[in-house]
Amino acid sequence: MRVGIHDLAVATGHHVLDLDDLAARNGVDPAKYHVGLGQDAFSVPAADEDIVTMGAAAALPLIERHGTDGIRTVLFATESGVDQSKSAAVVAHGLLGLPSTARAVELKQACYGGTAALVAALGIVARDPRERVLVIASDVARYDLDSAAEPTQGAGAVAFLVAADPDLIEIEPASGLFSADVDDFWRPNDRSTALVDGRLSVSAYVDALLGSWDDLADRGGIAPADIDRWLHHQPFTKMALKAHRAWSKHVGAEFDETELATGFTYNRRTGNSYTASVFLALAALLDLDDDLDGRRLALFSYGSGSVGELLTGIVKPGYRALRRAGQVAGLLDARVPISVDDYRELHAATSTSSEARQNPAVTTGPFRFTGVEAGARRYARTEPTPN
Ligand code: CAA
Repeated sequence: MRVGIHDLAVATGHHVLDLDDLAARNGVDPAKYHVGLGQDAFSVPAADEDIVTMGAAAALPLIERHGTDGIRTVLFATESGVDQSKSAAVVAHGLLGLPSTARAVELKQACYGGTAALVAALGIVARDPRERVLVIASDVARYDLDSAAEPTQGAGAVAFLVAADPDLIEIEPASGLFSADVDDFWRPNDRSTALVDGRLSVSAYVDALLGSWDDLADRGGIAPADIDRWLHHQPFTKMALKAHRAWSKHVGAEFDETELATGFTYNRRTGNSYTASVFLALAALLDLDDDLDGRRLALFSYGSGSVGELLTGIVKPGYRALRRAGQVAGLLDARVPISVDDYRELHAATSTSSEARQNPAVTTGPFRFTGVEAGARRYARTEPTPN
């Protein structure tokens, strides 16, 4: 049976911080960020946005385009979860008006969670091809102010429908896996910012890519030359280049660095979106590469801690008719620039506190995080539900 990604859509935060401004503030050569890290800007959610509002905003166009028929599962992947018990999936399910005859679950394993959700969804649809699974990957990447990781923050969400006989990409059955218990990046329960050992995280990522490749090779695998396009998790886009260089050396393949550039287009502007990052790379490739009919993509997902998985998929002829490049460019262009001072104030004010509060109305997205009442986060639509 052919199962895969039927449609996908993207959302991000309300504000954007230009890395030139951060470089000026930090007394750093802007080339360190643009060239050294491969990043130009990052999205900053407004005070009334979070993973739930961004995730629901990404999923909304899919529901509008395809309806809710057959959706019996909502999987919400995030590593910036907002509750230790109630899943963001249940809240998104409610905001999207999905039928009660659906299961809703949150998945966590750092940036790998979105791929874990995809793989689970493939199994659910293989079990009953009448079903479709709504996968939402949504994250706000936050590190301490003035830390080395600060320029690699960001925010974004990608939602996709997994279905039988998909319109966009058929995912092939074999994948390569690599897990290792390593403290390269984590977020303890009492923190709203992640802790990271940057150097270790870079080498752990590379180990996971090579390990995943070797596992796939041991399972029958495919030759390097049979892969037409590569997509990697992009905590910063230079990381994907570093990892791909290591893979090329590992397998003895030639590698033209410009080949990865199209998949970097959106991530360079949103910054890290953790679970959504590799799917944002996929969105960019589908939107901007005109020559993907029948091509094989390799998609490498890395979640610190750590789990890596390498999947492959074949792009369906006709994918061009489903592209939304203008929409995503519009979304990114419409973000409201934020000054470094205002960003720092917003960063310092962001908390996981359950104290009662009302959030200011800022976002122009379809959903708002309105505040906290009796310890519970409250959300609302900002525009009427379409008929
Ligand atoms: N012009 C051009 N390049 C310059 C430059 C200049 N003026 N100044 C410095 N650079 C280059 C450096 O040479 C370096 O490039 P190479 O690595 O290719 O040599 C690059 O800019 C970065 O410089 P530093 O290594 O000195 O940067 P840093 O130590 O300040 O921070 C970092 C880099 C450790 C990656 C930090 O940003 C970080 O901790 N980020 C968060 C962790 C992360 O994203 N890790 C990735 C793997 S983990 C993962 O994937 C999960 C996840 O999502 C977090």
